[in-house]
Amino acid sequence: AMLARAALRTVATPSARLFSSSAARQTKVAVLGAGGGIGQPLSLLLKNEPLVTSLSLYDIRGAPGVAADVSHVDTGSEVTGYAADQLDQALEGVEVVVIPAGVPRKPGMTRDDLFNTNASIVRDLAAAVGRVSPSAHILVISNPVNSTVPIVAATLEKAGVFDPRRLFGITTLDVVRAQRFLAGLVESDPAKTPVTVVGGHSGATIVPLLSQSAYGKAVTGEKYEKLVHRIQFGGDEVVKAKDGAGSATLSMAYAGARFTSALLKGLNGEKGVVTPTFVKSPLFADQGIDFFSSPVELGPNGVEKIHPIGPISAEEEKLLKACLPELKKNIEKGKAFAA
Ligand code: NAD
Ligand code: LMR
Repeated sequence: AMLARAALRTVATPSARLFSSSAARQTKVAVLGAGGGIGQPLSLLLKNEPLVTSLSLYDIRGAPGVAADVSHVDTGSEVTGYAADQLDQALEGVEVVVIPAGVPRKPGMTRDDLFNTNASIVRDLAAAVGRVSPSAHILVISNPVNSTVPIVAATLEKAGVFDPRRLFGITTLDVVRAQRFLAGLVESDPAKTPVTVVGGHSGATIVPLLSQSAYGKAVTGEKYEKLVHRIQFGGDEVVKAKDGAGSATLSMAYAGARFTSALLKGLNGEKGVVTPTFVKSPLFADQGIDFFSSPVELGPNGVEKIHPIGPISAEEEKLLKACLPELKKNIEKGKAFAA
């Protein structure tokens, strides 16, 4: 009898989950660059995401293999892999497209050094999304994010299908790092140590708003300076440690899945889903900066509401002052390329 009860329990869990997810909206998600360092673990994490009902994996190499592998994980979603010449098929009926395609940094490089290679990769993928699945939400991971997001916007604009509510640069890794590094310093639980990070995604354009957190406010002086530097240059730590083999992939896959999951909750009608993301934004548009990351409420149409950055300290004013001109240059470079 005990065995039977145990068997019943193991059956009850997945069917309960199937029931709740079939009651929810069906969502087809594509990963472009699914064979890569980020793409593979991101595909795995998305296979485990109950709001994803179908997973479409594309890369110029390796995606069918990744798809066959991931498809054996016993969750409800269907997984299909697409070869290099099957981009259009991969995008058919897709509502959310996550893009980690492109080359990563090696030691000594800045993210902007990736521009020459990644700008055209992202432009071409965005053009395909605009053609095949023009109402899809596009989540950009490929660096330099400060430039690739404006490139996607301009490409969709040219095709006449740009909706700013459906384009996101994923800056979640900066938030993840800020939470982890601050929690380590003050010995708190990272899950209970949220930090808002605004601006862009590279060096000085990354602006952590530690003064908005009770834990963060307590960090001052040299400790504060070091913490800010670590949040802004956390990517370099990984690039250095990987010693030529690439940049953050696993923590990025985690961050990418976390953001995708937040968007899916919003699309699904959940209220109060707010997270920083790099979007077309009115906040600094009067200074010629029309993309900016600040806390954004996600809803059934994507961007529901762009929140202002809120009250900031004198130190953060300085960080923001350093961020804006660099961010402006990065955005303009992307726009110039797309034009
Ligand atoms: P990787 O080289 O391991 O993987 C990239 C994948 O993209 C490869 O499998 C490659 O075949 C594929 N690819 C190249 N051109 C393509 C195309 N036209 N269509 C489809 N796929 C294509 O690199 P990675 O470590 O996964 O990093 C990918 C990108 O993500 C880099 O630009 C990196 O800088 C960026 N990144 C961003 C963040 C962030 O916070 N936003 C964090 C980490 C890395
Ligand atoms: C990161 O922040 O880890 C990524 O943008 C990759 C990089 O180049 O540092």
